[in-house]
Amino acid sequence: MHFLAIIGSLRKGSYNRMTYEAVRTLLPEGVSIEEAQLGDIPLFNQDVLDEAVPAPVARLAEQIAAADGVIFISPEYNYSVPGLMKNAIDWVSRLPDQPFQDKPVAIMGATPYRLGTVRMQYHLRQVLLFLDARQLSRPEVMISFADKLFDSEGKLVDETTREMIRTELEAFCTWIRRLTAGAEALKKSMT
Ligand SMILES: Cc1cc2nc3c(=O)[nH]c(=O)nc-3n(C[C@H](O)[C@H](O)[C@H](O)COP(=O)(O)O)c2cc1C
Repeated sequence: MHFLAIIGSLRKGSYNRMTYEAVRTLLPEGVSIEEAQLGDIPLFNQDVLDEAVPAPVARLAEQIAAADGVIFISPEYNYSVPGLMKNAIDWVSRLPDQPFQDKPVAIMGATPYRLGTVRMQYHLRQVLLFLDARQLSRPEVMISFADKLFDSEGKLVDETTREMIRTELEAFCTWIRRLTAGAEALKKSMT
């Protein structure tokens, strides 16, 4: 199984990137993950898209299409989805075979504040609803007070948070297997 991580922060000391690094070490056996590059995606412009799909957008769409699941790991900006991530989603959503159709997705987020990116997560769920992505409902990973949970090297040292992430990753894998088995059984019953 292979996942794509879409991280909503470009910041060097990003808690969400540190969370991604923790995810890499907590994946169930046999699961791999890569990080999408959002930094070189231009601002959405329909005129540009009418000419050609920009290479970084095409690359992102291919990565999403090829992944068994997508994990969003993002801060909350002004109670919502960071523009960086929303812009990337907007681009791929306008492609003929928009790659979020039926794609299993999971969400995580980290903030130094109390509410653990909850408002970003529910705004993101609303966007993903329109794109017909399959969203893992539970467990949810909302990381509060992130500035207290990582060591000076950026390693997630809080065991409760590590366990929360581990549990979501396991649930995501199990659910994707169930979805895949269900789709195969349906196909077989129709032939
Ligand atoms: C434009 C902007 C808006 C923000 N809005 C929120 C917010 O609504 N809720 C929140 O918990 N933190 C908010 N923050 C603080 C971020 O949670 C904090 O900067 C966090 O460290 C960003 O994530 P990162 O460490 O992965 O870069 C905001 C930060 C910025 C730059």
